[in-house]
Amino acid sequence: MSRKKVGVLVSGRGSNLQALLDAAADPSFPAEIVLVISNIPEVYALERAAKAGVPTLVIPHKGFPSREAFDAEMDKALRAAGVEIVCLAGFMRLLSAGFVESWRNAMINIHPSLLPSFKGLHTHERAIEAGLKLHGCTVHLVTPDLDDGPILVQAAVPVLPGDNADALAARVLEQEHKAYPLALRLLAEGKVNVSGNCAHMDAAAPAGALVNPAP
Ligand code: GAR
Repeated sequence: MSRKKVGVLVSGRGSNLQALLDAAADPSFPAEIVLVISNIPEVYALERAAKAGVPTLVIPHKGFPSREAFDAEMDKALRAAGVEIVCLAGFMRLLSAGFVESWRNAMINIHPSLLPSFKGLHTHERAIEAGLKLHGCTVHLVTPDLDDGPILVQAAVPVLPGDNADALAARVLEQEHKAYPLALRLLAEGKVNVSGNCAHMDAAAPAGALVNPAP
């Protein structure tokens, strides 16, 4: 089996990167991480990659005259490394339409809400304020609109009485670390078929339903 070559873009602590590195450490996982790029120097994600023996690159966005120029530099590095799938893992920069288009159906993102609810920032605060009983995370294919694109995997968690944003974020993050490797595996195995705004997956669905409060 040839493993798909993956590039991961990060901007911060990299706990989702770690989940992908851990999954890819298993030789039977259908993807290998070949490059990690950060737009911010000295973030912890870079240390995680180095510890796993994965090459890293810092491309500071501030050094570029335009978004397109910055994206072109990332694109060059990804192509040079033979990357076939790009994973955004806490990458906090908007991407230009040209870059997104050139990685169509080959770039995925993880977002800390059940999309299409709560695109953008501060998702956990907003979920609590809205009085949600279920919240979660989404892995989706990246399209030019922010936090949009065909959904691959979602995981839901209950919002509990007394939750603050940090407690809820921690509960969601635990699921992010399962959802992201699962989505990458499905994509790398060629089990994702996209038609229009929807991704259809050749994968099992869970039994039953998560109901909060419990019936
Ligand atoms: C994660 O919660 C991820 O879902 C979120 O940033 C965090 C990064 O954490 N991404 C976004 O909000 C993108 N819209 P990590 O660096 O520990 O993976």
